[in-house]
Amino acid sequence: MEIYGPCADNLPLILNDVLDRIKQLSSTQVANGHPKLYEHLIGRVKANDSMTEKCQRKGYPATPESALRKCRDAVGIRVVCNFIDDVYRCIDLLRDADWCTIVKEKDYIANAKPNGYRSYHLILDVVTPYQDIDGQTPGHYFVEIQLRTIAMDSWASLEHRIAYKFEGNAPENLLKELKACADMVDMLDAKMFSLKEAITAFA
Ligand code: GTP
Ligand code: MG
Repeated sequence: MEIYGPCADNLPLILNDVLDRIKQLSSTQVANGHPKLYEHLIGRVKANDSMTEKCQRKGYPATPESALRKCRDAVGIRVVCNFIDDVYRCIDLLRDADWCTIVKEKDYIANAKPNGYRSYHLILDVVTPYQDIDGQTPGHYFVEIQLRTIAMDSWASLEHRIAYKFEGNAPENLLKELKACADMVDMLDAKMFSLKEAITAFA
């Protein structure tokens, strides 16, 4: 069963369009003499099975409305930045962009999760040339954006691996070590940002 119904074929197109929009934001920054916005970008359309499982877990009926309107991460993009200020620069540009509206923000950078997870999450409402689940064209689709530094990203992949390996029940000492790594990541990002700022003054 296709949980995204008639909108399924639009999702990869929307993913590509939004990736292009973000690439364009970065190119414009570079053209104006600023550093590139990010080190790399990745994106995915949430697989049918994963979305069906998520709807079940959240107690939503397995319908396209649940998959596209109640859940808002059918299309997801991760923006991985070199430095912490690049994360905020990217958020500011998305705030100003006319092709999307930020409908939700979670600042897990200022307020890390108790396990140490850091990232800035946005839900965008994106205007697209495709029909949406309400039958409207231009259609509105939600896109989840996760912004983080390279250091936060490697921490998150380690945490993900540990959570997966121990099925969410990792030994306490391991979780403590992981939290200690998160604190070091935070310090590393702060120090690298200051160093970068210091050398910029020499340019
Ligand atoms: P969902 O409904 O599952 O999307 O959760 P939510 O609405 O509470 O969203 P939240 O913004 O907290 O998390 C969404 C996504 O962020 C997850 O699917 C992960 O990709 C990522 N994420 C959140 N917390 C963690 C974490 O502790 N570790 C790692 N590795 N990733 C996380
Ligand atoms: Mg999610």
